[in-house]
Amino acid sequence: MEAYIHDWLHLLVRLLHVITAVAWIGASFYFVWLDNSLETPPKEKADKGIKGDLWAIHGGGFYEIAKYRNAPATLPKHLHWFKWEAYSTWLTGMALLIVVFYVGAQSYMIDSTKVDLTSWQAIGIGVGSLLLGFGFYEAACRTPLIKHDLAFGLVMLAFLTVMAWALSQVLGDRAAYIHIGAIIGTCMAGNVFNTIMPSQRVMVEAAAKGETPDPYYGNKAKLRSTHNNYATIPVVFIMLSNHFPITYGHEYGWLILAALILTGAWARHFFNLRHHGKTKPMILVSALAAFVVIAWLAKPAEQAAAATTDGPRVTDVQALSIIGDRCTACHSANATDDVFKVAPAGVMFDNLDQIKAMKDRILARSVHTHDMPFLNKTQMTDDERAVLGRWLEQQ
Ligand code: HEC
Repeated sequence: MEAYIHDWLHLLVRLLHVITAVAWIGASFYFVWLDNSLETPPKEKADKGIKGDLWAIHGGGFYEIAKYRNAPATLPKHLHWFKWEAYSTWLTGMALLIVVFYVGAQSYMIDSTKVDLTSWQAIGIGVGSLLLGFGFYEAACRTPLIKHDLAFGLVMLAFLTVMAWALSQVLGDRAAYIHIGAIIGTCMAGNVFNTIMPSQRVMVEAAAKGETPDPYYGNKAKLRSTHNNYATIPVVFIMLSNHFPITYGHEYGWLILAALILTGAWARHFFNLRHHGKTKPMILVSALAAFVVIAWLAKPAEQAAAATTDGPRVTDVQALSIIGDRCTACHSANATDDVFKVAPAGVMFDNLDQIKAMKDRILARSVHTHDMPFLNKTQMTDDERAVLGRWLEQQ
């Protein structure tokens, strides 16, 4: 019953997180698009201090949007700030991290074949990595490096790569990935809370007094907002990555993570350049090419695949016994695992037909990668993987 309630809680928190994140990133994409699409306003608008305008039709209504060069002469009564999208995404993200990874630390954080941590040690490493990541980013923003966009980006990438490597040495692969995503998300929400909102408050105060806001604040907010912008595609990838053992489950998962962060930020660069009037479609084409190259480089080793097919014939009884020992604790109509009481993903291995039907997925998750059994909870050996692989190839 407890596990059942936990699953519904998990579903609720995940829904809230995805919805708030869609609202946050959606608004962020919308404003980048808006800035890129503004047109020179007619004279009567330009005289009022309007720098760009745009007309749109959406959901059966006409919209007239205007962007001011500085602040409007009189401030409107209601000004929308777009901050709660960011805060609620971070809060629900932390809640999800706790509900899934920290409450279920035994199942989701600890891989005893790497380091046999206690739950509290694993949680400590996870929380510590968030604090370290956020602290590093904020400290880096206070050095002269901040003035050099490319160098700053490369230093952050190098830092995240080292963190991904370090976490992958001590935590389960999924947990290592998710914590890199959480570090980036924390820096992004931190930018909104610590820098963008306070700067905008100063600007609004100046405008209310009829003064021209000091551009220092606008520029400072703009820079952090640009950082956030480059982080959007990488962070969305990392949040989805737990569905893709081809990434986190790879021997060099930390390197794949770094390569995909770089590719995602590069793709975003296309849209940011367009903002400055430069359209370079080759950026998007090369990002797509990089994606394909990463996929090719990370493909399962040929030798491993060949090794699984040679060797003596494996009988059905042998295969059933391996699956029975290592998989059916979770993947059965009568699951006995302490955490997964209902067969995960609806996958059950109670008879030969069910097993054969999942041939490709079993090869992908237990033979070509070591992603299943989940965090190798049932301690499957490499020998058993080879034998099971050979049997599956014979089918
Ligand atoms: C401790 C519990 C546990 C054990 C033991 C376990 N699994 Fe899983 N399995 C999961 C969970 C949780 C999921 C769903 C999450 C996911 O897909 O990563 C899953 C999903 C799967 C999927 C479906 C997802 C897909 O890729 O299509 C397959 C196939 C699978 N496991 C194969 C296996 C095999 C083969 C074994 C034994 C060698 C095994 N599992 C042992 C927990 C377990």
